[in-house]
Amino acid sequence: MALSSLLILLFFVFFILFVDGQYLDDQKKLLLELKSEFKFNSSNPNSFVNWNETSDCCEWNNVGCNDSGHVISLDLTSGSISGIIGESSALFQLTYLLSLYLPRNDFTGEIPNQFHRLPNLKHLDLSSSGFVGPFPSTLANLTELVYLDLSANFLTGSIPSFHNCKNLKWIGLALTNLSGSLSHLHFQGLTNLSVLDLSYNSLNGTIPRHLFVLPSMEALFLSNNQFNGPIKEISIVDHSTLNG
Ligand SMILES: *[C@@H]1O[C@H](CO)[C@@H](O)[C@H](O)[C@H]1NC(C)=O
Ligand SMILES: *[C@@H]1O[C@H](CO)[C@@H](O)[C@H](O)[C@H]1NC(C)=O
Ligand SMILES: *[C@@H]1O[C@H](CO)[C@@H](O)[C@H](O)[C@H]1NC(C)=O
Ligand SMILES: *[C@@H]1O[C@H](CO)[C@@H](O)[C@H](O)[C@H]1NC(C)=O
Repeated sequence: MALSSLLILLFFVFFILFVDGQYLDDQKKLLLELKSEFKFNSSNPNSFVNWNETSDCCEWNNVGCNDSGHVISLDLTSGSISGIIGESSALFQLTYLLSLYLPRNDFTGEIPNQFHRLPNLKHLDLSSSGFVGPFPSTLANLTELVYLDLSANFLTGSIPSFHNCKNLKWIGLALTNLSGSLSHLHFQGLTNLSVLDLSYNSLNGTIPRHLFVLPSMEALFLSNNQFNGPIKEISIVDHSTLNG
């Protein structure tokens, strides 16, 4: 009786390890493929330094996994990484990712417009990383996003409307060279939005009224743009809750 229970238990332990192992192999393969896409400084611990075949990828620097072994976070902040993140990068097969931090690197080329393939993303930081080219419009399809920072990159075009990303709390788009005007929909209904930084761009047109009535707003930065038109709406702002 005791022996058969033990055997059944061992079977399940073996089964779980085996199944998990397959998933880990898949994730490890994708991470090694990602590493091979870039140049980096191999003595910078914020980079891909100990990512190798011989160890468990969930133990690597700057990688976080969930209990089943799927990669859910990558933090390569200031990783001295250079190169292009291609539209077909292995990055976009890491579909369990919740957090992706790549700020302060030396990427060249555009921000790929493939982020809709990472539908679980909550935190995305690509700030100060050398990106040029069009604003990746599929970011506006990430309905789980809470934190978005693209500041200090050289983007072109206008900002897509984020009204479907209802969980957004923090949007940093300062110093991104963006132009165009904001529509009445752009940040409409983002009841959790507490920080919005659009400063140092070339935005024009009028400032939409809804920006001043978002209930969680604490800091709104709009300076150094080319906004025009009446701003009498500002008088409706409850100054006890607005600091910025
Ligand atoms: C590589 O990173 C190390 C540690 O951060 C640093 O001391 C070194 O100067 C870097 N080398 C280059 C070429 O950037
Ligand atoms: C592989 O990474 C582990 C740490 O994760 C390290 O101890 C080991 O030396 C590395 N092996 C090679 C060949 O770089
Ligand atoms: C993004 O969402 C819009 C509708 O909200 C849809 O038309 C578009 O195809 C989506 N784009 C991608 C790349 O998923
Ligand atoms: C806003 O934040 C609250 C509290 O953190 C959370 O429960 C809610 O799901 C968030 N999203 C929306 C759309 O209100």
